[in-house]
Formats: sequence, structure tokens, C-alpha cells
Amino acid sequence: MDSFIINGQRKLQGRVYISGAKNAILPIMTATLLTAGKSTLTNVPRLNDFKNMAHLLRFLGAKVEHENEQMIIDTKEINQYEAPYELVSKMRASIYVLGPLLARFRKARVAFPGGCAIGTRPVDLHLMAMERLGAKIKVEHGYIEAECPDGLKGSVIEFPFISVGATANAIMAAVLAKGETIIKNIALEPDIDSLIDCLILMGAQIEKVNNKELLIKGVTELKPFEMKMIPDRIEAGTMLLAAAITKSSITVSHCEPKHLEALLSKMEQAGCRFEINNEDCHPLQGEQPFEITIYPAQKINPVDIVTEPYPGFPTDLQAQFLAYMCLADGSSNLKETIYPDRFMHVAELNRLGADIQVSGGMAIVNGVAGFSGAEVMATDLRASATLVLAGLAAEGMTKISRIYHIDRGYERIEEKLNNLGADIKRIL
Ligand code: UD1
Repeated sequence: MDSFIINGQRKLQGRVYISGAKNAILPIMTATLLTAGKSTLTNVPRLNDFKNMAHLLRFLGAKVEHENEQMIIDTKEINQYEAPYELVSKMRASIYVLGPLLARFRKARVAFPGGCAIGTRPVDLHLMAMERLGAKIKVEHGYIEAECPDGLKGSVIEFPFISVGATANAIMAAVLAKGETIIKNIALEPDIDSLIDCLILMGAQIEKVNNKELLIKGVTELKPFEMKMIPDRIEAGTMLLAAAITKSSITVSHCEPKHLEALLSKMEQAGCRFEINNEDCHPLQGEQPFEITIYPAQKINPVDIVTEPYPGFPTDLQAQFLAYMCLADGSSNLKETIYPDRFMHVAELNRLGADIQVSGGMAIVNGVAGFSGAEVMATDLRASATLVLAGLAAEGMTKISRIYHIDRGYERIEEKLNNLGADIKRIL
């Protein structure tokens, strides 16, 4: 199993390019199941989550090619409607095939996703949404068996609380349902906007009635599409925090500052300053690319955060921000409201010299003068990124084992950081 060896306390400088957004691309990959033909996604990095999703789509009968940031998915010959356990257990986002398969083939059999390192993560809202659209659902022998022999029918779906995944699945199912669907209390993440943009390109009729509600008029057919994927706000945020924690100034290019407002405002409170510019190179299709230059705080102010659905502070940056707050001049509280158990990284950060206690979904962080390098173990995707940040700031050498988690969601993170001046080696 791969590990990282990091020699810490190197200053970072230069420019880093942000890749396409993992959490936007995964549902768009499954949206290709809604049509029969060749769709093209560009700005797609090489992530293990995409390999796993491609594997699942191929199992269903699709052809998937991924080369040079371009992914072509041909769904002409889909001949399966089952997502088996060995594929689903590798990646929770496999549940995204449920809505598209039901909508197009009126049948789906998807292994029930298990828990993961960040909590139990149920799928009841996904199932509720499918039932509201008329599907009959049974959970048997570890599988979700769903069918709607006469097709899905438009309805009102009201989520009791916000779920990114259930919103995406509900939208993908409703676009081919008969009649109108209203979806209330939707997730507002940029990943959802990008899925909606993609479905509209495919011919779906989707309107935002207001900030919390969608109106979808079902159509009978959707067509293949070509679309450039949005930049990954979590990768951009991780890079900004890598600069902040090493007190370095870098430029994060090809990102969307609008998607990062909650983080930028908290980092400003910590004492960082930012310059946001339009890039004059590599213009993206039809949109203005941006770059953010960070000027780090030399003395870090402690800042409290509460994770919330977008536009609140993202849970996927909680662990990285927590590492940053370990070096603040004072104490801070970080409350996790999305996944109250998502603090597996705390014990590892404490091994590196941090002073963090966790109680009732809240981390209380007492700032320390610095991290000291040690051997630690990555437990999940964002926890791995956090340990990399701490290792960059630590005095001496840090060895992080089980970094396969990081390859699920960051493309060549060590290369990107080494290009900025870090000293990270990947060893087998
Ligand atoms: C997505 C992201 C993940 C991010 C999370 C929250 C992808 C592939 N993953 O995950 O990186 O951390 O949003 O921003 O985009 N819940 C239920 N029942 C359900 C569904 C969710 O109780 O049927 C709960 C979850 O356990 C969690 C909360 O709702 O407490 C939000 O989860 P959700 O937004 O659905 O997360 P995911 O879509 O799984």
C-alpha cells in the first residue's frame, strides 16, 4: 500500500491548476445512462473514484474511454440494470445509478451501500424520492430492488433535510418521468447546478422556482451531450489551506471563487488576504476562469466554524481547516453538523503534536506552536489531505500510510504540491 514521506516546513510558491470537480463529475457520469449515445465530458482528472464509476458503467454495458482529461461515455448498449456489491462497496456514489436506471429502464437493482469511515450515511431519502415518483422499492438480500413497470410519474418530493446525493438522484429520475415534478428543499451545491446544466443540455426541462425548489417537466427522451466540468472547490480550498498552513503565498488557478466564499471569509478572519483575478490564459469555454492569490496570515487568529450545506462551510473542508486551526494563536471550536462522527483525523493530528478534543460533534482545538513529524495513517479521503497539510507544516519527517484514499479525490496531489516547492515522496 502506498505511503507518503513528507519533509516538512518547505515554503510553497508558484501557481497550481485546479482540476475538474469530483462531486460534480460523478453524477454527470451516471446521467449519461439517461440517453443512448456518446457523451463527452472534458476537464476530467484521473481519480480513482472515476475509475470505479467507469467500471460500474462498463458493467452495465457502457463503453467508457478516459484520456487526456476527456471522458467519452457511450451508453448505446446498456444491457444490465444491476449495480453489484463489489462495485458499490468501493464507492458510495454508485447509488447515483438508481435514478437514471429506473427512469430509463423502469428497473434497477443496486447493492445497499454500507457505512464508511465518516459515518453510517443512510440512503432513505434517495428511496423516498423514487417512491414519490411511483417506484416500488424492496430492500432484500443487501440489494435495493426498484421497479416502475409503467414508468415514473411526476409528483411532489419534499426533502425533510438537505441531501446532495438524494437531490441529484431525484432530479435524474424526474427528468424522464411523466408530467411535472416539484422538488422541495433541494441541495444548492455547485455540483447540483452543474448536473442541472448538463441535463438541460440533454434536453431536460428544469426550472428553479426559487432558491429551494425545482420544477421539472418530464420529457420522453434525452440526447447525448458535450460539457466542460466545473473546477473542484474542495481541491482549490485544500491548496489554499496548504499555502496558509505553511505561511506561503501561492496562486490557485482555474478555480471559481464564488464557490469558495464560506472558506475565504473564514480564512480572512484567520488573517489571510486574497487577490482574485480573471486569468488571461487558457480561457474556459463560455466562462471566465479565475485565479486566487493567497497572502497568508503570519499570526493565525483562531476562528470557529460550523459545517453546513452549501453555501455554508463545507464538511469536505472541515478536516483541512481543523489542521490549520491547530497552529492558531488561541482556541477554536469546529462543529460538524453533516457527519457528527467525521473526526477520525483528530487522533492522527494529535500524534503530530496537535491539542484537539472531540465531544458531541464538536472539535475543540487549542493552538500549538507547531506540528512535529511522525508516522500517521490516513482514514478517509479528506482526512488524508489533512495529514498532508499537517505534514507540510511539521518539523521533520511525516510518514502517512494508506494514502490510497487520497487518490480517490485528488489528482497527483504530491506532484502538484512538489511543483510548488513541497518535498513529498510516494513510496510503495
Ligand atoms: C455528498 C458528497 C460528499 C459530501 C456530502 C455533504 C458526493 C459524491 N459526495 O455526499 O463529499 O461530504 O455530500 O456535503 O457528492 N442522509 C440521510 N439519508 C439519505 C441521504 C443522506 O440521512 O438518504 C444524511 C447523511 O448521512 C448526511 C446528510 O444527510 O448526514 C447529508 O448527506 P448528503 O448530502 O446526502 O451526502 P452525499 O450526497 O452522500
